[in-house]
Amino acid sequence: MEAMRAVQILNPSGEVTMPRPARSRIMCVANQKGGVGKTTTTVNLAVALALHGNRVLVVDLDPQGNASTGLNVPHHAGIPDVYDCLIDNVPLAEVAQAVEGIPNLWCVPATIDLAGAEIELVSVVARESRLSRAITGHPEKFDYVFIDCPPSLGLLTVNALVAAQEVLIPIQCEYYALEGLNQLINNINLVRQHLNPTLDVSTILLTMYDRRTRLADAVEQDVRNHFGEKVLQAVIPRNVRVSEAPSYGQSVMTYDPGSRGATSYFEAAQEIAERGVKMGGVA
Ligand SMILES: Nc1ncnc2c1ncn2[C@@H]1O[C@H](COP(=O)(O)OP(=O)(O)OP(=O)(O)O)[C@@H](O)[C@H]1O
Ligand SMILES: [Mg+2]
Repeated sequence: MEAMRAVQILNPSGEVTMPRPARSRIMCVANQKGGVGKTTTTVNLAVALALHGNRVLVVDLDPQGNASTGLNVPHHAGIPDVYDCLIDNVPLAEVAQAVEGIPNLWCVPATIDLAGAEIELVSVVARESRLSRAITGHPEKFDYVFIDCPPSLGLLTVNALVAAQEVLIPIQCEYYALEGLNQLINNINLVRQHLNPTLDVSTILLTMYDRRTRLADAVEQDVRNHFGEKVLQAVIPRNVRVSEAPSYGQSVMTYDPGSRGATSYFEAAQEIAERGVKMGGVA
């Protein structure tokens, strides 16, 4: 019911479509800076695309388990999770859970077990490509796989960068936003050179934009000058409904589909879908 209501409010005439890409798009949502909107972006883009007919998988790769919480997927200790896939070779299909209330959306949760993975991975074979192997081995064809990274550049994030074709970097419209970005780009370049030659930083999304401040405007200009076409036209405003939604186990798309937070994530999802068609056609 909530899913239907959300679609009716966001897309009343039904004229906006989010065409399914010809090939599965695996997107790593990364930024080693904490609290810039990685998880919020993952959850809301995934829900927006799923509500419009795309088959979407979210992989929660952060021991904090925020994406699992945001999608209301059980992830207490003992629940099979992404750790089991990375360390014990459990197939992804066995740990993925259908997200309640949102057709076409699944989530591989993260439990507290994942906190140990960063260290345990060091001594396993093919430690950088465990997630890649798990995703490739999934029998289901998803239109989108979003990997929500932790705020670090350790082995978990490296696994995400090796598994993905595209990187989506959320950038918070605040001072210091660009600091540290070079380090992220350097790491992405290293992964490209050694492990995943076709990895592409395809998408930059500006988050928590506060239009009352001149600073937000300056950050936006900086980012657009630097990254050009990669930056989505849609900008996510700072919006209290966005931050309230997770405490109800919901995305803002269903929690308050009329809010500015929801409409801007809806626009961002639409742009991502359209770019996918330009890149490689439709399903
Ligand atoms: N557009 C927004 N408006 C208001 N609050 C927001 C917005 N986007 C995110 N937030 C809030 O900011 C906080 C950080 O967001 P989020 O958890 O998505 O960032 P993150 O990059 O995943 O953090 P971490 O690095 O810890 O994983 C959360 O409390 C979230 O609810
Ligand atoms: Mg997060």
